Amino acid sequence: MLSQQGLPLEAVKMCIGVVGCGQMGSGIAQLAAVNGCEVWLHDADPMSLSKAHESISSRIENLVLKGHLTKEKGTEAIRNLRCTSNLEDFHSADMVIEAIVESEDVKKKLFVQLDNIVKSSSILASNTSSISITRLASVTSRPSQVIGMHFMNPPPVMKLVEIIRGASTSDDTFNATKSLAERFGKKIVCSQDFSGFIVNRVLMPMINEAFYALYTGVATKEDIDAGMKLGTNHPMGPLELADHIGLDVCLSIMRVLHAGLGDSKYLPCPLLVQYVDAGRVGRKKGVGVYNYSKI
Ligand code: NAI
Repeated sequence: MLSQQGLPLEAVKMCIGVVGCGQMGSGIAQLAAVNGCEVWLHDADPMSLSKAHESISSRIENLVLKGHLTKEKGTEAIRNLRCTSNLEDFHSADMVIEAIVESEDVKKKLFVQLDNIVKSSSILASNTSSISITRLASVTSRPSQVIGMHFMNPPPVMKLVEIIRGASTSDDTFNATKSLAERFGKKIVCSQDFSGFIVNRVLMPMINEAFYALYTGVATKEDIDAGMKLGTNHPMGPLELADHIGLDVCLSIMRVLHAGLGDSKYLPCPLLVQYVDAGRVGRKKGVGVYNYSKI
């Protein structure tokens, strides 16, 4: 894979823009900074942005303390990371990875903005869990340079990146995205652009079914999770995993599956809807299916 200057991609310092500094965006920014990319990180919420800068820096320092990264690499990684509340700073980005709220309308507005800001050669990637890449691409003037790059949570730890080609995504865009994922040490799988792609098409109905089991009194939350952990060798039970992902994210994905695939089996469980309505969205808010406030 060659850069525009004809240099091997590894030899040039790529500039990556990351939009959204929540669970996913901050992890993606960390990965890019540690792997030698210049990173611009943006979020609509300035408070979240300064918290993200602190937590990414401290996670990188921990990697140095544990011997996973040399002191020099750690210092360079922290230097690579710049936070900005001004999206215009993304003008020099070679690639932008969007990790904002799972809403097609909000993502489309951002893609229109990014399309006007970044240079014509830049790739626009979305970390969406389920939304159509083809439809996000359709609001830009560069649909061949729009792609899905779906990291797993937490991005620095999980080994997989699911790559989704929209209807117009070019081979060059696919190859550059694959190279970047591999540079981050990830394995890739490729999915066609249908709601939920591979991982969430299979995972979310299972999580939704676990909510139905809880809702209809089949068992306690602890027994549902223990049953799936010990009975099917999953590292986390489905309800615990939903808290880890964010119940708001799970609900948005179920709605996209239902709207996109049209089958009533994807209807979100009323209990999942009620928890989200109550603000019980999981670990990130201290309460979801479980209460984390005492931990
Ligand atoms: P989050 O709720 O932790 O963070 C979202 C961030 O986006 C917040 O900091 C918010 O202030 C910011 N934001 C919202 N609208 C914005 C805008 N218009 N411009 C700039 N910033 C904006 O969400 P999370 O979990 O990080 O998810 C982000 C994306 O990643 C979603 O599309 C989600 O489906 C996807 N994803 C989530 C996974 C998970 O396990 N939570 C796993 C893989 C993908």
